[in-house]
Amino acid sequence: MVKVCFVTTDGRRVDAQGTPGDSLLALGQAIGMPLEGTCEGQMACSTCHVIIAPEWFDRLPGAVEDEEDMLDLAAGVTRTSRLACQIVLQDDLDGLEVRIPDEARDMQGR
Ligand code: FES
Repeated sequence: MVKVCFVTTDGRRVDAQGTPGDSLLALGQAIGMPLEGTCEGQMACSTCHVIIAPEWFDRLPGAVEDEEDMLDLAAGVTRTSRLACQIVLQDDLDGLEVRIPDEARDMQGR
């Protein structure tokens, strides 16, 4: 199991357990995080934008150019932003911490 801590827009910490091979997006959605993932991992939206804790960012495999391009369009993007659909859980990501961007709040209930 890979443990991931999601930090919500109101600062709550929600722990989740994923399986290696799952996407971070699927795990977040499974526990009710407001990540729409409209394009289902095609890198054609940015509704799965998450902010990776700085100490974890460099430990993730880098983003491909298409992901970078999409992130450029995301609201509230930061230096450690990623698309959750592009992050595949692996054993060495156990303990990963990611934050839901404030902008995600606006998408809830649409
Ligand atoms: Fe659309 Fe991740 S789900 S880019």
